[in-house]
Amino acid sequence: MWLPLCCKRSQTAADRRAPTPEEHNDVSTPAPVADPAVHPAWLPDAAFAPLGSRRIAVEIPARDWSTLSAQVAQTVRAEVAAAVATHGGAVVDASDAPDVALVVIAHNDQDPEAFTVAHGGGVTRVTAADPRGLLYGLFHLVRLGEAAFDGSAIGEDVERHAPATALRMLDHWDNIAVHPVMGQVERGYSGGSIFYRDGVVREDLTRVARYARLLAASGINHVAVNNVNVGPLETRLLGDLLPDVVRIADVFRPYGIQTHVSVSWAAPGRLGGLETSDPFDAGVQQWWADAADRVWAAIPDFGGFVIKADSEGQPGPFVYGRTHADGANMLAAAVAKHGGLIHWRAFVYNHEQNWRDRKTDRAKAAYQHFAPYDGTFAENVVVQIKHGPLDFQVREATSPAIAAMPNTRVAAEFQVTTEYLGHQKHAVYLGRMWSELLSFPYWGEGSATMADIATGRGPGGRAGGFAAVSNVGDDVFWTGHPFSQANLYAWGRLTWDPTADPIAILDEWIGLTFPGLSAAGRQVVHAILDESWETYEMYTAPLGVCFMVYPHSHYGPSPDGYEYTPWGTYHFADRDGIGVDRTVATGSGYTAQYPAPWASVYESLDTVPDELVLFFHHVPYTHVLRSGKTVIQHVYDTHFEGLERVEASIAAWEAAAAEFPADVAGRVTERFAEQLGSTTDWRDIVNTYFLRKSGLPDEQGRRIY
Ligand code: GCU
Repeated sequence: MWLPLCCKRSQTAADRRAPTPEEHNDVSTPAPVADPAVHPAWLPDAAFAPLGSRRIAVEIPARDWSTLSAQVAQTVRAEVAAAVATHGGAVVDASDAPDVALVVIAHNDQDPEAFTVAHGGGVTRVTAADPRGLLYGLFHLVRLGEAAFDGSAIGEDVERHAPATALRMLDHWDNIAVHPVMGQVERGYSGGSIFYRDGVVREDLTRVARYARLLAASGINHVAVNNVNVGPLETRLLGDLLPDVVRIADVFRPYGIQTHVSVSWAAPGRLGGLETSDPFDAGVQQWWADAADRVWAAIPDFGGFVIKADSEGQPGPFVYGRTHADGANMLAAAVAKHGGLIHWRAFVYNHEQNWRDRKTDRAKAAYQHFAPYDGTFAENVVVQIKHGPLDFQVREATSPAIAAMPNTRVAAEFQVTTEYLGHQKHAVYLGRMWSELLSFPYWGEGSATMADIATGRGPGGRAGGFAAVSNVGDDVFWTGHPFSQANLYAWGRLTWDPTADPIAILDEWIGLTFPGLSAAGRQVVHAILDESWETYEMYTAPLGVCFMVYPHSHYGPSPDGYEYTPWGTYHFADRDGIGVDRTVATGSGYTAQYPAPWASVYESLDTVPDELVLFFHHVPYTHVLRSGKTVIQHVYDTHFEGLERVEASIAAWEAAAAEFPADVAGRVTERFAEQLGSTTDWRDIVNTYFLRKSGLPDEQGRRIY
């Protein structure tokens, strides 16, 4: 019989007890060592200068904190100690005229991550009910810089800051074993994994510690550490590799981050030798309960399991004639007594579709599979739904499934890694796109938004939070393109406050990441990134048509790449027109999945927004958009303009590059060369495709091949 190796480690649970008051007050815990070979992202030393040059008092009473909070308390002290050591300030007693007081104080705040700030009598004061809130308060001061201390950004009135939701998550699609097709990190464009190398969990997790610190400074507090497509080796994270998960969780914990693992529905067979994974089988239920007991015995503050079931070849409850609710609830029962969560992904569709079948519409799948089970999921199940009904396209409608489950905790899922948006070779800032999606009012102007639903402010009042696929790897810049760091930063900031201005976040990121840059230099980065999402949309698939990429890699133009495949993603272009008829009147009927007013807004060609016209309708190339242009002329114009905008960005960059550190300048210049070639391909291939299909010339007579 298989003996879980983790049992041998059970005595280490004692090692993870809360520190004694003496240990608790120990300021010697070092902040993560800076590795000069790794880019500091938004936490360069210079960002700590305003704080670190001051006299700082830290008051955290010795209490019976959870291990998580106790370790975060150590982190606050260590961060302060490191900052003053570097920048000439001092750690002082509260009675010794501090400039800054960071205080854990008993107050009524129920949210352990909330903090308050106020400035008066020359002192900037941060208070929180828990060290976790204090850590976020500390990073708030770092973000504000000098303005945190001179009364300009923080006034005398006490100002409370709290996250919109307690579930602010990043999912890693990292494999332990290098996948023959997907590589070390599925859809990863930033080198290898920071967690795994050569088929094992890395011995040295220093990089993970630095990552945890960056995430805490942006607002993230949950991380799933392995790919949702769980292979046999990764399944063992619940078994003999559990001690490695313990090591990873130990590195995340000091930054207030809980660790989650993606699990395979086949785990009872793979690890336990069971012959079934039927959720109604008592042996299966017991196996999962035992697995959960083992995991939480080793990691008492473990977050829970993420699962992709019955999706793209992953096993799931369908095999046994059971529903997703049956499957999710069985896992939920196993983890409930530990306070664990099940993130059950709603990315379920038929990926073996026949392209000749015009009735089946992949966009309808998540709603069809999940909405009927609203209200039947256990309280500790979070149904994780992609923001759109397809797959992280540059422009698709918002998922109607998100609004269809008021009695279920729903998480909105996003993708920080740019699978369909240029592989971190193109400079594309996603903050504006996410912000637009998060603020989509599902029941019309002024109604609950996607963010409201995910944060429990929607009709049913249940919060599932936010999850996104990370874009980080072992690349020296973390994210391949140095400017793609902005996406990771913005994701964290938007999970904390989904109503935040994405452009203010961009400027905040620029200021932190490139200290000392001139106003002109900052403006160049701003100008390159500000409307880069719209630029990318211009030169790729037009008007919400989606998927004109090379199959598998999802990079570069291939207008018919998915047209005759089993993946269910078609645009139906012919000589007369293009687009997917998803209307009730003549198409797949998908529009009926939306509540009013959107069902009718999208149903009618008179009211559908231009940018989604081909997502909802099949129209002639001569169809006149609300903008006054025909579809075909819009395609030509946007593709020419998209490339012109990239060329303008490159020209601006070339003029400013010398002002940036040489390594950043070199990498960005190299990425722009690739982007220019790729964008030129996009322009010419898409334009040529449509000219050849339609036979309609460009009004302006520009060169099309
Ligand atoms: C996309 C992506 C896959 C991924 C899947 C998912 O289809 O291409 O690599 O596994 O999304 O979200 O599970």
